[in-house]
Amino acid sequence: MKKADQLADIGVVGLAVMGQNLALNMNDKGYKVAVYNRTASKVDEFMRGPAQNSEIIACYELKNFIETLQKPRRVMLMVKAGEVVDNFIQQLAPYLEQGDIIIDGGNSLFNDSDRRTQQLAKQGILFVGSGVSGGEEGARHGPSLMPGGNKAAWPAIQDIFQSISAHVDGEPCCDWVGNGGAGHYVKMVHNGIEYGDMQLICEAYQMMREGMGLSGNEIQQVFAEWNEGVLDSYLIEITRDILSVKEADGTLLIDHILDTAGQKGTGKWTGMNALDLGTPLTLIGEAVFARCLSALKDERVTASQVLPAEAATFTGDKREMIDAIRDALYASKIISYAQGYMLMREAATTYGWELNYGGIAMMWRGGCIIRSQFLSNIHDAFERNPNLQNLLLDSFFIDAITEALPGWRKAVGKAIEIGVPVPTFSSALSFYDGYRSKRLPANLLQAQRDYFGAHTYERLDKPRGKFFHTNWTGRGGDVSASHYAV
Ligand code: 6PG
Repeated sequence: MKKADQLADIGVVGLAVMGQNLALNMNDKGYKVAVYNRTASKVDEFMRGPAQNSEIIACYELKNFIETLQKPRRVMLMVKAGEVVDNFIQQLAPYLEQGDIIIDGGNSLFNDSDRRTQQLAKQGILFVGSGVSGGEEGARHGPSLMPGGNKAAWPAIQDIFQSISAHVDGEPCCDWVGNGGAGHYVKMVHNGIEYGDMQLICEAYQMMREGMGLSGNEIQQVFAEWNEGVLDSYLIEITRDILSVKEADGTLLIDHILDTAGQKGTGKWTGMNALDLGTPLTLIGEAVFARCLSALKDERVTASQVLPAEAATFTGDKREMIDAIRDALYASKIISYAQGYMLMREAATTYGWELNYGGIAMMWRGGCIIRSQFLSNIHDAFERNPNLQNLLLDSFFIDAITEALPGWRKAVGKAIEIGVPVPTFSSALSFYDGYRSKRLPANLLQAQRDYFGAHTYERLDKPRGKFFHTNWTGRGGDVSASHYAV
């Protein structure tokens, strides 16, 4: 039996790159870490390689791994989301005691984390589902961490989590998110927003490259300039850097990369959840579909030979258009975050979470893929009014949108004219115009529903909740269909 001071503070299961880097990060911060991997050779490779000068303890059997941990035992799973997580939980549970903690740091579906929290609580084991963002670099030097689950676990993991996370202005990019699946839910929304931010940047690039015929170098300069202003963010920064990488023959690498996007599903989950909760998360939805459309490469190549463009070629002042595209990107980004926050607000009500919206902005301000200056503005908006109904109603964002609006309309209008697809720029603008509309054409829609299906409608001149049916054709009866809501 090892003495308490020889025991590890935390154990990490799974030595793929994220697990390795988190273990090294914890070790650097002075925590004693034990590691275990199903394939033992991975443990050896890690110990001989990146971990060779660390205090990390290598374990080759689960039982021994658990015995190496201080109580309450803290076990962090860094394995593939899905069944693998359940399998490990099953294998670990017999060795664990009341009060021990299992943390899942993968990109798990929030419903799974909800279920695991509840199931393990029955055995007295505290489950935490934590979003971990920032890729390899983040995991190694400071990720954004979004833990949720069984709150009784938080005091026992807070120190470790907040010291390994990224920090901005001395504040950790990590805080307790909420019960059950809340941590993984917030990570899912983060990923959806990541999809949106990336697509927005891609549309700006496409406008300049294909629409205006700018060279890769010119576009690289534009992104460098944008990164100094309100768009200052990790994703703009890496775009600037990507656009300077050349092949041996001097051509840009970006021009040789096949234009079909991959995806692992977290953006899709965000869109599906928005549909479930009835939240108009249009921008992220378009970003997911844009990836799907890009994947139809062969079909697009065929279509490009037969479908006419009937589009103008770009003329006009390039500088003015570049500024308009910047405004479109910024305004659309505001819409995307506003929609993401609308979704989290709806989720909090539906799933019974108390989400701290300003705190979430703080968690995303550093370490993660969507990190940016902009998140401080979101944090400030919720500081001004913790009950803010919608980010678009905050004074800072009203001013920002007001300023960007002419350029935004101009860029979207030009894109349509010259035939460049801008699904997120344009859907964001349509959402904006819809959101600020006192009257939408849903009166007609309700009439249509009532016409063909007797689904009834409410009237402007009668109290809400009172439903009417009209016999539109004189042929139908007066009986209305029963009410239902999705
Ligand atoms: C992060 C990222 C990460 C995500 C990848 C790939 O926060 O570090 O969100 O979790 O898995 O970005 O996502 P796709 O393959 O779906 O683009």
